[in-house]
Amino acid sequence: MCSLSLLLFISLLPLLCYNLKISTPPTDRTARLGSKLSFSCLFQQTPDLTQPYNIDWLFNGNILNLIPPSGLTRRSSSLDTSSLTSTLFITEIILNDSGQYSCQLSVNNGSFITSESALLEIATLAENFLTNPESKSPMVGEGPVYLFCSHGESHPPANITWLKNSQIDSSLSFITTTVTVGMNVVASSTLTISQAKPSDIGAYTCVATSSYFPDIEVRSGTALLMVGSETSAPVWLQHPHEEAVLPIYIGAELILTCTVFGNPSPIVTWERDGSVLSGSNDVTLSTGIQSSYRIAVFSESDIGSYRCGALNILDSTYSHTVELRFVLFIPVTFLRKIYSI
Ligand SMILES: *[C@@H]1O[C@H](CO)[C@@H](O)[C@H](O)[C@H]1NC(C)=O
Ligand SMILES: *[C@@H]1O[C@H](CO)[C@@H](O)[C@H](O)[C@H]1NC(C)=O
Ligand SMILES: *[C@@H]1O[C@H](CO)[C@@H](O)[C@H](O)[C@H]1NC(C)=O
Repeated sequence: MCSLSLLLFISLLPLLCYNLKISTPPTDRTARLGSKLSFSCLFQQTPDLTQPYNIDWLFNGNILNLIPPSGLTRRSSSLDTSSLTSTLFITEIILNDSGQYSCQLSVNNGSFITSESALLEIATLAENFLTNPESKSPMVGEGPVYLFCSHGESHPPANITWLKNSQIDSSLSFITTTVTVGMNVVASSTLTISQAKPSDIGAYTCVATSSYFPDIEVRSGTALLMVGSETSAPVWLQHPHEEAVLPIYIGAELILTCTVFGNPSPIVTWERDGSVLSGSNDVTLSTGIQSSYRIAVFSESDIGSYRCGALNILDSTYSHTVELRFVLFIPVTFLRKIYSI
């Protein structure tokens, strides 16, 4: 008699005398769209399998028709006969690759053993926020004050953090909650300021990240927290640009933004090479707490060093300066920065 000590689901013809088991089944995975991965399946047999056999891979219960690696198909498999290990390779992963994968060893006469299924999930990261935090102006001592943001559907859930004045600030207190929507999750975050004080004044932004997309950081809109009742000299919350030197194409659109807080509200001006600018046909100036300077079509005469000035009854101050330089070719990442405010 044959002793069949099979750990996993198995269906064998009673006559077959192999003790087959799967020692390492494929494991659940999450992969980014467009990436590649492999599933492996290791079988054990006692005594050695002498009959012809083959190993198939199943996707959602159906046998996959796999061609040996040729570089032309997205899915292929390979077999290491000495260790009886089969590997399934999937390249350029698409949404439809999401599902259950299992491996199946069949011996010539029809008996087979099938592994447990491994789930392949596709990682996604929404490109935008559903809810941006809203600006608030509490009085000193007022609280708690809540700032809220909600990021789009992603899988697995995105991690949300808060920036204050574009910086990570470990003193910020926030909690993230998630709501499942089908296969995806919406992550929301609430920042709590228990009692508003002048040092809380700032520009607050949510950032969504996922370890599957290390090169992407999705930012929400920015909320300004202005704490009233106390007079305050102008304080810069946002300078015209993060970089001191900004290369730009002739003909490109340019938007520079600076944000200032003060009480009473400061008057904001823009300067190029030390001269105060006024709007003209292709230049839009908007003033207020957040002030943008837009040049619809950048020309050689716009080259120079730009900064904001702010003035109220208590003080006057200048932002950092950004020097605009004309270049022929600039990396795409720079373009993104130019257009992100
Ligand atoms: C994905 O699956 C759907 C439904 O089975 C099918 O209509 C569609 O063509 C598939 N897309 C790709 C890119 O294979
Ligand atoms: C099926 O398995 C039995 C038992 O091992 C063997 O005697 C028989 O030859 C096999 N049939 C084929 C077609 O390999
Ligand atoms: C979120 O952060 C935690 C802790 O750093 C990490 O284990 C997890 O993988 C992150 N999630 C995503 C989707 O990146």
